[in-house]
Amino acid sequence: MMRYLLCALSAVAAVQSLTTSQMENIKALLANLIDTANADNERPLVAATVRLAFHDCVGGCDGCVDFSHADNAGLQTVVGLLDAMYDDTSNGISALISRADFYALAGIVGVEVGASLQLRCGRNCVNPTPSVTFRYGRTDCNPATVAPRSFPSGIANLTKTLQFFASEFSFTSRETVALLGAHTLGEAHRENSGFRGRWVPRKDSFDNDYFVKLADGGGVSWSQTSLQRGTLYQWNGDDASGRGHMMLNSDMVLYRDISPNATTGQTLTCPTNVALCPYAATKDIVEEFAADNAGWMAEFSDVFEKMIEHGSTNLQLPA
Ligand code: HEM
Repeated sequence: MMRYLLCALSAVAAVQSLTTSQMENIKALLANLIDTANADNERPLVAATVRLAFHDCVGGCDGCVDFSHADNAGLQTVVGLLDAMYDDTSNGISALISRADFYALAGIVGVEVGASLQLRCGRNCVNPTPSVTFRYGRTDCNPATVAPRSFPSGIANLTKTLQFFASEFSFTSRETVALLGAHTLGEAHRENSGFRGRWVPRKDSFDNDYFVKLADGGGVSWSQTSLQRGTLYQWNGDDASGRGHMMLNSDMVLYRDISPNATTGQTLTCPTNVALCPYAATKDIVEEFAADNAGWMAEFSDVFEKMIEHGSTNLQLPA
């Protein structure tokens, strides 16, 4: 049974005009929430808000997350926290923007907080900052008419991965590669997706480390790992200092032509050393982003902005 838990109370939010200072006030509330460190001094809501922005926008950004869909597993915590803030009428947010706008703005703040935590910059280096413009006016879902959504598969090959983003969002291959740099953030959990681990060691610092570790120059020796008794596969590898990394097939295919099995994701051509497989058609884009954090951040910002406007027309800039 489909359960649309979030949008039942506000199928369509009343959208009034939003001023820049009202938007900045909402962003400050969101930043306060997202920038909260846990006991390990990490900020899990950075990754969670960025993932939520993507999931809410598959099929059109509409402020609804279907928790009966397995691919949305793990989003309950962030949705609960954001909804508690949105539904608290004392802060006035729900009178100004829709829930879908609020999730999109949370994604922007997630990107901004993550980028502010970049660690790899040296003494004379300036961290590139994201630049994602927020426009408002998205329409929240109507639970009675919302259609089931399909998400991309973590075991898919390159063709299917690029096709998903081309048909859902009209993104080019380059835009898709840039967007998947979001996997610098966060981690996979066995209880959510079956996959396990972090793409890169620091899960709330948002930079181009995903591309660095994917490309040859990142010094990670990647080999295939069997999960769930051989019914699911991912790639694991240690870097020079022994820190562990993970890639889904849908990440690895951006750099190597690994021809994964369509059901399990297993590859038979280079399971113990991905470097034995030929390069993928998008390899040069990965290497370009690995070498240019600022260039990638600019392209990521552009495609993330397009993603969070998917399905909406006549969005407006705060006045
Ligand atoms: C081929 C496309 C994609 C696939 C197959 C995919 C798959 C996954 C999977 C399996 C997880 C782990 C979930 C879990 O076990 O908890 C995950 C996490 C994540 N994904 Fe994706 N994803 C894709 C695209 C994207 C995009 C476009 C974004 C954002 C722009 C994104 C952002 C994230 C983030 C930030 C996390 C970590 C969440 C956390 O730690 O809370 N993903 N993704």
